[in-house]
Amino acid sequence: MALISIVYRLSNRRVVSSRVSVLRNQTNVFHPASSSSPCSRPLHPLTSHTMAAPSAAADITKAGDIQNARRIIEDSVGEKGLNLLINNAGAVRWQSFNDITEENLLFHFTTNTVGPVMVLKEMLPLLRKSAANKTDGLSVSRSAVLNISSTAGSITTLSPSSPLGTDYLKVMGYRVSKSALNMAMKVAALTMTNEPGILLVNMCPGWVKTNMGTDRAILDVWDSVSDIIKTLPTLNESHHGTFLDRHGNTIPY
Ligand SMILES: NC(=O)c1ccc[n+]([C@@H]2O[C@H](COP(=O)([O-])OP(=O)(O)OC[C@H]3O[C@@H](n4cnc5c(N)ncnc54)[C@H](OP(=O)(O)O)[C@@H]3O)[C@@H](O)[C@H]2O)c1
Repeated sequence: MALISIVYRLSNRRVVSSRVSVLRNQTNVFHPASSSSPCSRPLHPLTSHTMAAPSAAADITKAGDIQNARRIIEDSVGEKGLNLLINNAGAVRWQSFNDITEENLLFHFTTNTVGPVMVLKEMLPLLRKSAANKTDGLSVSRSAVLNISSTAGSITTLSPSSPLGTDYLKVMGYRVSKSALNMAMKVAALTMTNEPGILLVNMCPGWVKTNMGTDRAILDVWDSVSDIIKTLPTLNESHHGTFLDRHGNTIPY
């Protein structure tokens, strides 16, 4: 039996939606955008279940944009609600501690931490609606939030021998904002435990060849997204509030 879900991604200053159909062990995703971001390319040949849906401009640092996006999504999903929100938008501006400015820190915090939290708050009623339509446990097909975080936000794993070595220290604002995102979303996850049905996970996509990841990265967008899509249907209660890599393995906060 096929599970049909609707995915909304907030990135590229647009809300882009696409249908995802999970056919037994095979997942098909269509994403109409041509951005270099993860989640922007088809993973498998499209199926009859796959279709594009409306998109809307959305800068996630602007409350009005987020509200407008919610209205468009609401009109599109109706009583079914929203079953998967992927908070993918993110930004980086290289600056090490020696050069760090208040502006740099606030820029990252606004985009990478505050933005995703505000998006989640705005979309929560739609996620609740989807959760209420089913009674089984937590899953992506019922109602879920996937926050695209980064291992760069892991305090535990930061060491001089981290991948890229000391280069990693030069993205101080980014690191701080992703750590804050992880904490904010863990708090959200634990708060939402009181309203069962919505699964929340933070995930690192790996080091990916995008504008942010640069050509030095080790993964093509296709490989990263493909791994994420394979992992999504395996997520359940045990993953709620956790920080995972794209294969579903735990990353220490
Ligand atoms: N690439 C990696 O190696 C890597 C590793 C770990 C985590 N990540 C995370 O993966 C996610 C995607 O990053 P990426 O690699 O695809 O980076 P990217 O190539 O720089 O793309 C970032 C995307 O986020 C959008 N964005 C930035 N600020 C926004 C805002 N205020 N409102 C709405 N959209 C905004 C950008 O839209 P515009 O083009 O309009 O600016 C762009 O589509 C980010 O959360 C990033 O932190 C990436």
